[in-house]
Amino acid sequence: MSAGIRLAGERDAGAIASIYAPYCEASQVSFETLAPSAEEIARRIESVTERWPWLVLEDSETVAGYAYAGRHRERAAYGWAVDTAVYVSEAHRRRGVGRALYTALFAVLRQQGYFKACAGITMPNPASVALHEALGFKVIGVYRRIGFKLGAWHDVAWYQADVQPEAPNPPAPRPLNAVIDSPAWKEAIARGLAHYVEQR
Ligand SMILES: CC(C)(COP(=O)(O)OP(=O)(O)OC[C@H]1O[C@@H](n2cnc3c(N)ncnc32)[C@H](O)[C@@H]1OP(=O)(O)O)[C@@H](O)C(=O)NCCC(=O)NCCS
Repeated sequence: MSAGIRLAGERDAGAIASIYAPYCEASQVSFETLAPSAEEIARRIESVTERWPWLVLEDSETVAGYAYAGRHRERAAYGWAVDTAVYVSEAHRRRGVGRALYTALFAVLRQQGYFKACAGITMPNPASVALHEALGFKVIGVYRRIGFKLGAWHDVAWYQADVQPEAPNPPAPRPLNAVIDSPAWKEAIARGLAHYVEQR
């Protein structure tokens, strides 16, 4: 069985759409209510990876999960912050996929020069809270009953983590293609994958 973490591409869109769909259609985890098509996911991957990492963990040619980063807020001073998300297929849970993906994602974000990561988690979601806390995120506030879905109002807890220690005059983050396939990129991927290989 061969496992790897790599940048997501168009060929992963169908698998990612399948992993994501139940959280749109049948749970409050995502605030999307219509599951995006594979074509729409492919469009999102292309758009995200113009600047930020979108990683998949593949085992035996099956996408086990994915994690990506994206813009936190538009205004310039937010430029060193990202929002992150992670989804793991039901069949691969509790085997270190989420930890592996986030570890690799953070290492890539460090190379690019990002400093803060934020994640909004619809409550309750004990697995996601535990994963984020295990990776160093801390809760910073809760939007109360901010979203209405499936007949109920839902809280969203916002979590934040330091990607790396603050720098006094941080340069603008580097584009993703400035770090892809560098020795540091390969090291980031290997560091993440080790969490999966150890646990599976
Ligand atoms: C949250 C999620 C990504 C976790 O992925 P995973 O691959 O199962 O997590 P890992 O095996 O890497 O677990 C890493 C750590 O997270 C915590 N954790 C993960 N799932 C947990 C659960 N069900 N209960 C308690 N803790 C959990 C543990 O601390 C775990 O470390 P341990 O296994 O050494 O105890 C996965 O459950 C998922 O995809 N859920 C549905 C989608 C979702 O909610 N995504 C997040 C949106 S905000």
